[in-house]
Amino acid sequence: MANVAVIGAQWGDEGKGKVVDWLASRADIVVRFQGGHNAGHTLVVGSQTYKLSLLPSGLARGKLGIIGNGVVIDPEALLAEIERVRGQGLTVTPQTLRIADNAALILPLHAALDRARETARADRKIGTTGRGIGPAYEDKVARRAIRMCDLAEPETLSEKLDELLLHHNTLLQGLGAPVFEKQALLDRLLELAPLLLPYAEPVWERLDEARRAGRRILFEGAQAVMLDVDHGTYPFVTSSNTVAATAAAGTGMGPASVGFVLGIAKAYCTRVGSGPFPTELTDATGALLGDRGREFGTVTGRRRRCGWFDAALVRQAVKVGGIQGLALTKLDVLDGLKELRLGVGYRIGGETLRHLPAGMRAQAAAEPIYETMEGWSGSTHGARTWVELPAQALKYVRRIEELVEAPVTLLSTSPERDDTILMRDPFED
Ligand code: IMP
Repeated sequence: MANVAVIGAQWGDEGKGKVVDWLASRADIVVRFQGGHNAGHTLVVGSQTYKLSLLPSGLARGKLGIIGNGVVIDPEALLAEIERVRGQGLTVTPQTLRIADNAALILPLHAALDRARETARADRKIGTTGRGIGPAYEDKVARRAIRMCDLAEPETLSEKLDELLLHHNTLLQGLGAPVFEKQALLDRLLELAPLLLPYAEPVWERLDEARRAGRRILFEGAQAVMLDVDHGTYPFVTSSNTVAATAAAGTGMGPASVGFVLGIAKAYCTRVGSGPFPTELTDATGALLGDRGREFGTVTGRRRRCGWFDAALVRQAVKVGGIQGLALTKLDVLDGLKELRLGVGYRIGGETLRHLPAGMRAQAAAEPIYETMEGWSGSTHGARTWVELPAQALKYVRRIEELVEAPVTLLSTSPERDDTILMRDPFED
């Protein structure tokens, strides 16, 4: 029996929430391994709609949730989210939620620096969520981050705050932003400590036991491969590795524990924030996809940019992300379009490429090479078997499989949980 890792194969917002929720109902443990409260999953369970940011989705299904060491945790955001979902009737206690004691924390100064830097970038903004994700990861690799375990050591907190403030206040001052006072930060962290420490433990130990006992572990990725800090459209990326390999390092498990890697891709493509998007549609078709797909960011509320499915990009995500099967979502949004396009490569200057190159200017200059396909007149909305799909829709899916070099193992045909065509159960792989 395999474990499963779920990652986004485009620029995020691929509809992971529904797929993760479906898989979570079949898992024993759901683990987050990277990112922070920049992520956003909307889960519809019965009459309740949960908007989760930091909490692992399995909590909505009564499963043990674990926040791994690869996640950056904003204590205020976490506690507020716990309160919010408790108000909706979910049980979140130290029995149902465990947090890696070696995970790095996000402090208010990280969000302040994130925003001050974005303001300073003027028209060259990354379009971050402004939640301090980048600065928190910077502090982690710079070896000055405050971690969950430090909350139990007031002296460590005090020493680390000195080092953090020396660094951050210098930068904030330079950017013309208000600086932070040590005592207020220290007092607040000491207040938060007893609220957070009951959740903290070396989660790798628990995960190791679970793995040896044959329990099913679902690794819940956030963001997506094209936002990966190494493999994405740098610098228009998030500050963590989003590829499936991170599921191991971000939880304290070995690479062999990760199991089947399911990539999620929309049947078209969207992006929030700035950065290259070769198949972007700025015309009426792009607007139509946005309206039909209700393309607004869960976290930011910003309208998402929309475009054609970029098979060259997803093929790249399949390779670098280690994706073994693809869950294709929102196929129904394409219903009724007369003609569809699939990006199969790029023209850059005089060169033709099958992948998006690493250079920033080359990425910005990439002109998509399209393959055109006839659309379908029937509906795919709510289909639960392959035979219900119009022949042309099936052809579209089959062509995607060929181009991205991965099988479509799951097809989602509406936001409803049961409107799903399953080709292969990833837990049985
Ligand atoms: P950050 O992660 O807040 O630093 O933002 C960096 C980039 O990643 C920006 O373009 C964000 O819009 C994007 N981003 C971060 N989290 C998500 C997500 O969950 N979905 C889609 N885009 C995201």
